[in-house]
Amino acid sequence: MTETSLTIRRPDDWHVHLRDGDRLAMVLGETARVFGRAIVMPNLSPPVTTVKDAAAYRNRIRQSGKGARFVPLMTLYLTDATDPDEVEKGFRGGVIVACKLYPAHATTNSEHGVTDVARIRPVLARMEKVGLPLLVHGEVTDTDVDVFDREAVFIERILAPLVRDFPALRIVFEHVTTKDAVDFVAAQAKTVAATITPHHLMINRNAMFRGGFRPHAYCLPVAKREVHRLALRKAAVSGNPKFFLGTDSAPHAVATKESACGCAGIYNAPVAMSAYATVFEEEGALDRLENFASHFGAEFYGMPVNEDSLMLERAPFTVPERIGDMVPFLAGETLNWRVAGLASPTKGPVL
Ligand code: DOR
Ligand code: ZN
Repeated sequence: MTETSLTIRRPDDWHVHLRDGDRLAMVLGETARVFGRAIVMPNLSPPVTTVKDAAAYRNRIRQSGKGARFVPLMTLYLTDATDPDEVEKGFRGGVIVACKLYPAHATTNSEHGVTDVARIRPVLARMEKVGLPLLVHGEVTDTDVDVFDREAVFIERILAPLVRDFPALRIVFEHVTTKDAVDFVAAQAKTVAATITPHHLMINRNAMFRGGFRPHAYCLPVAKREVHRLALRKAAVSGNPKFFLGTDSAPHAVATKESACGCAGIYNAPVAMSAYATVFEEEGALDRLENFASHFGAEFYGMPVNEDSLMLERAPFTVPERIGDMVPFLAGETLNWRVAGLASPTKGPVL
């Protein structure tokens, strides 16, 4: 029987780029009206490298949210110079919930990232000790490594040794794009988990070259071959708690995407839950969407699930061609599911 509606615990987004200033004001609502909490990436310019920066950024998000029932969860951007005491202070003070490892030059605003993981070993040891998760952008940047192999090579050269050397460190392999990553994560202890984006579940690398170059399908890690997309779909609907929702929604102005050197990033916040629901329905696994979207991430981070519920409706949802100066993921396409609203058990409707 075809479901016509679906009510799940309110989901969380365990990986999102909310930006700052005017763009924060433009994009925050799309995340905050659906997700109860979100792990906010620290790759601002300049990056969020201190507890003070993270607290100030959290305040700007809260102010921009104008009292919305939404909790921004902050992260610190690791550099070669990060001080273990700073990280511990941020964690103990309740300002940060994780630290993010960007290999230097791997992606947008990563030029201050880590040049060699050996340099942050004392920080990783401290994180392991205090129980602070490490979020990883898993790509090597060596110019002799093919761009489509960067994630697989990262596993072999960086991640596997890291998991071995810091066995109690909780690690999230963010926005996995390959079967190699899925297999690796599935084979580790429960300290190692992964987020999966809507776009990597829906497009393969052909999407970037369909009838011409398509900058709005370009993100990092770049989408891979179909065999990898299928492995990601299987992992997402598997019911394995190691795989949970993280949109990696990464908004950029259209002019910076459609350019001689276009920015990496897909703005999917406006369509994220519609897209995930469509994928889970296609896989015959709608009954597993709630675990993936609303339970497994919270479990990994040791947080309670949200009290509110999210209602989804099986109704055509045509994605706008533009939202402000941005082109959202799946612009102009029609999805089978739309967000119908939120309900709160304690305070009545919140949308
Ligand atoms: O495509 C991406 N965009 N990947 C990232 O890792 C960063 C993000 C951004 O900040 O635009
Ligand atoms: Zn990201």
